[in-house]
Amino acid sequence: MGDRCGSFLIFCSFIALFGSSTEAADIFLEWDVAFNWTIAPANTDQPVITVNGMFPGPLINATTNDNIFVNVFNNIDEPLLFTWNGIQQRLNSWQDGVSGTNCPIQPGNNWTYAFQVKDQIGSFFYFPSINFLKSAGGYGPLRVNNRIVIPVPFARPEGEFDLLIGDWYSYSYKEARGVVSRKTYLLRISNVGTSVSFNFRIQNHKMVLVETEGSYTSQMELDSLDVHVSQSYSVLVTADQQTSSYYVVATPTQMDTSGLPSLNGVAVLKYMSSDVDVRSRVFYWSSEVHQEKLFIGTCFLGAARPNPQGSFNVSNVNITQTFILHSSNAIINDSLRFTVNNVSYFTPEIPLKLADFFFNGSGVYILDEFPVETIRDNAVKGTFVATGVHKGWAEIVFRNDLDVMDSWHLDGFGFFVVGFGDGEWSHSSRESYNLFDPVVRSTVQVYPGGWAAVYAFLDNPGMWNLRSQRLQNWYLGQELYVRVFDPNPDPTKERPPPQNLIRCGIVSINSTVSALAPSPGGLA
Ligand SMILES: *[C@@H]1O[C@H](CO)[C@@H](O)[C@H](O)[C@H]1NC(C)=O
Ligand SMILES: *[C@@H]1O[C@H](CO)[C@@H](O)[C@H](O)[C@H]1NC(C)=O
Ligand SMILES: *[C@@H]1O[C@H](CO)[C@@H](O)[C@H](O)[C@H]1NC(C)=O
Ligand SMILES: *[C@@H]1O[C@H](CO)[C@@H](O)[C@H](O)[C@H]1NC(C)=O
Ligand SMILES: *[C@@H]1O[C@H](CO)[C@@H](O)[C@H](O)[C@H]1NC(C)=O
Ligand SMILES: *[C@@H]1O[C@H](CO)[C@@H](O)[C@H](O)[C@H]1NC(C)=O
Ligand SMILES: *[C@@H]1O[C@H](CO)[C@@H](O)[C@H](O)[C@H]1NC(C)=O
Ligand SMILES: *[C@@H]1O[C@H](CO)[C@@H](O)[C@H](O)[C@H]1NC(C)=O
Ligand SMILES: *[C@@H]1O[C@H](CO)[C@@H](O)[C@H](O)[C@H]1NC(C)=O
Repeated sequence: MGDRCGSFLIFCSFIALFGSSTEAADIFLEWDVAFNWTIAPANTDQPVITVNGMFPGPLINATTNDNIFVNVFNNIDEPLLFTWNGIQQRLNSWQDGVSGTNCPIQPGNNWTYAFQVKDQIGSFFYFPSINFLKSAGGYGPLRVNNRIVIPVPFARPEGEFDLLIGDWYSYSYKEARGVVSRKTYLLRISNVGTSVSFNFRIQNHKMVLVETEGSYTSQMELDSLDVHVSQSYSVLVTADQQTSSYYVVATPTQMDTSGLPSLNGVAVLKYMSSDVDVRSRVFYWSSEVHQEKLFIGTCFLGAARPNPQGSFNVSNVNITQTFILHSSNAIINDSLRFTVNNVSYFTPEIPLKLADFFFNGSGVYILDEFPVETIRDNAVKGTFVATGVHKGWAEIVFRNDLDVMDSWHLDGFGFFVVGFGDGEWSHSSRESYNLFDPVVRSTVQVYPGGWAAVYAFLDNPGMWNLRSQRLQNWYLGQELYVRVFDPNPDPTKERPPPQNLIRCGIVSINSTVSALAPSPGGLA
């Protein structure tokens, strides 16, 4: 192991190059976001949110450090926000596009996001973040390519495909057509669904895993790959079989779909000059294929942000704070809510970030009463915010008290995924951590009745959303915000609000100053 990683040490020195880019491009996009009734991705008619008439939405094809400007025209009949899953928005949570950071774009209005994909590479996606809209579409792929001067730890592929897997429609991929024999392709796979984990595989082909949400992994050859909700991977596939067409299949991992083939996502990998119509063949796949745990080491190839010592070796970092977060559900005031340590998030009318800026959060949220290591003995709905110690290392343990697969995501940072386990987490669970070469990613899966542990280096001041990626759980309260505060007012530090800041609630344009007086409490 030591040799494996040691030999890649040279790549660390390239990381410094990220910051000194002079080549960053500006990418300007105009998005018309609408409901289209005419596209029926499943067999039933349902409205689909399209971007510029497309479903899935258009690819954002960026390169490290590019500045992206997305002018979103909200032509649906509901308030809208987009978030950029896995894009870290360095020093700039103002562009994160979640309910705690931005007022929504009202129907008929437009708003321009402006953000930099700083120091990042990888496969990501965007989606509408509020009001359950993700279940109606509106998502699309977001690539951050390497700058040309940065070495990539694999030969340049012949082509790239973005594959989005969703859980309510069956033909979710683009067809990968005209693949040339013996050439290697990069597939960027994201699970954009709301609740279902998929096992992804390609008939007769092996895949080589190379990237998870922004960091290169040590390369593993796989027959299949589990992709949990909101996770992304890049894999290399070599067209090394006889010229033909092959099935690309995504099967739900925790359901028996043998009698329900329509629940499987199916696409076709078609070799150039192949005239085989794969759909006329019967292709058998087992619905039992299932990866128990994908626990991969990464080496410090110039991709994700390493720790401040310049490597992914976190065995000598000092943990500043520990969060032990139990996700569960509870009946609160006669309705089902999802909870974290028996707190179900209540979304205030004014985003936390604006509340912070205009009146120091007063009256909108309660700082530091969130029970970060214990479970409240009664379930409540409330707006609690946890402090994340700036430049500290946080250890976050996600414990899943429910019997369904979950996945968790923190905006603004990468997770160093150090451990998984069954049952309860205890202090002695730390002995099983992989601190040596943990993979770095932004969304970690948490197995039913088990736990996952991550480290995060909180070097990015802002108001950051920590959430279950299961849409229903998130929507019904399974989230919290972590406020990483840097008191240094240096303007090169955390960005001020953008000029085009949307105001709402008690700081809306038309409100009077007296409306800014603190209102009582943060409990709903
Ligand atoms: C979807 O809606 C957009 C915006 O109204 C429109 O431009 C586009 O043509 C529509 N596409 C389809 C396939 O109906
Ligand atoms: C994406 O951008 C890269 C780098 O500029 C370019 O090589 C590639 O052709 C682009 N891909 C697409 C699909 O636009
Ligand atoms: C709305 O779109 C117009 C026209 O493209 C643009 O000039 C304006 O800046 C946009 N408004 C916001 C708030 O981004
Ligand atoms: C990782 O850090 C630990 C503790 O400092 C050290 O013992 C170990 O050699 C390091 N591993 C590598 C590969 O640098
Ligand atoms: C961790 O804390 C110990 C004891 O305070 C200190 O000696 C060590 O330098 C710290 N390590 C890092 C990486 O900050
Ligand atoms: C802002 O709120 C924080 C935490 O509630 C408090 O410690 C601080 O003193 C407040 N600052 C001002 C200027 O009121
Ligand atoms: C969480 O709250 C519920 C209902 O309010 C309560 O019954 C339960 O005991 C609490 N959980 C823990 C671990 O205290
Ligand atoms: C239930 O609703 C009432 C009335 O809105 C509110 O006062 C109370 O705090 C709520 N209870 C919880 C546990 O949130
Ligand atoms: C503010 O007030 C003006 C005049 O009453 C009204 O036209 C406008 O729509 C209001 N704007 C908002 C954001 O409420």
